[in-house]
Amino acid sequence: MDFNIAVLGGDGIGPEVTAEGVKAMQAVGRAFGHNFTLEYGDVGGISIDRHGTPLTDGVRELATSADAVLFGAVGGPKWDDPSAPTRPEDGLLALRAHLNVFANIRPVKVYPELTDSSVLKPHVLEGVDMVVVRELTGGLYYAQPKGRTQTPQGIVGVDTMRYSESEIERVLRVGFELARGRRGKLTSVDKANVLETSRLWRATATRLADEYPDVELEHALVDACAMQIVLRPASYDVIVAENTFGDILTDEAAILAASMGLLPSASLSGVPEAGARTPGFYEPIHGTAPDIAGQGIANPCGSILSAAMMLRYSLGLTEEAAAVDRAVQTVLEQGYRTADIATAGDAATGTTQMGDLVANAIG
Ligand code: NAD
Ligand code: IPM
Ligand code: MN
Repeated sequence: MDFNIAVLGGDGIGPEVTAEGVKAMQAVGRAFGHNFTLEYGDVGGISIDRHGTPLTDGVRELATSADAVLFGAVGGPKWDDPSAPTRPEDGLLALRAHLNVFANIRPVKVYPELTDSSVLKPHVLEGVDMVVVRELTGGLYYAQPKGRTQTPQGIVGVDTMRYSESEIERVLRVGFELARGRRGKLTSVDKANVLETSRLWRATATRLADEYPDVELEHALVDACAMQIVLRPASYDVIVAENTFGDILTDEAAILAASMGLLPSASLSGVPEAGARTPGFYEPIHGTAPDIAGQGIANPCGSILSAAMMLRYSLGLTEEAAAVDRAVQTVLEQGYRTADIATAGDAATGTTQMGDLVANAIG
């Protein structure tokens, strides 16, 4: 089959890891007889440098018309000036909103081979298998008013926390549906003891629970949840959280997996369905890692596994997706480790070599 994929590598290690995600897809193409037409575009800091904006109309159009988008990461110290009119991250936020991908699915899997690489004790990591559903197009990131203004009292920075019931309901439903297809447990995260948006969130979750009698709903306050995620991570099945909470909890959860570099994500406009052909936006959860960019040592597995999610949820290729997941597993079982994995030692595998190993394991 033929597919059009928009490839937006972005900045820092973004293009480095995305190249390996692409490599995995090409290996799938060869092994299973598919043709992926790749259309590359600038986004983020590189787009500011070249075109004066983090997201051009052309790239927005490219992303809209593609079957799916493989995204790297954007941002970096070069564009961090707090008084700059725009930032690389604005391009990413604009794309997510434009594509209406309100449900960001972030699976947190612990490979048994890597439990001794985590700072957490192996017995804590036993049986960890959770999915975090992060609301992606609302809340503090987007709500108006937003900005910086001069007032008689001095400069004031404003961000607004706002959620409508329908925004909450649609992402909670993704959580319930995912839980239904897994171990039947949904943890809804909020700060209902303080925030009005959270009280609406909690009330909506409680109301929806009647429609999902097969799912056990638990409410958790985000601060306590942040603690429990490292204390008893195996007790979680599906976690659903608003935008900011989900962002923070998943970087924390990456510690379970041993590295940020391992976690993929799929951003969708509804419930993920294996074998579906609905557009989606796929990116590792990590950023541009300015501290290691350009050294060829970044872990590409987050991007490769994101490509696998793309095959599964946007291109209808479940068998192919499983082959990519298996290939990553195989390479880790063989003992290959990029430098971010604590047990890599002096013999760490580089980014492109890791990508080659996975591609070979697919083919
Ligand atoms: P980061 O995720 O880029 O890096 C955090 C730490 O994890 C660093 O030590 C880094 O070296 C390490 N790391 C991350 N990914 C890795 C990988 N694949 N392999 C090995 N090590 C990896 O977070 P940060 O340093 O806080 O942010 C840097 C920039 O990235 C900022 O400009 C931020 O806005 C941006 N960012 C972008 C995205 C995105 O585009 N989706 C996500 C997060 C951060
Ligand atoms: C992520 C990142 C982004 C976010 C930033 C770069 C805007 O941290 O994808 O997790 O906060 O959504
Ligand atoms: Mn983040």
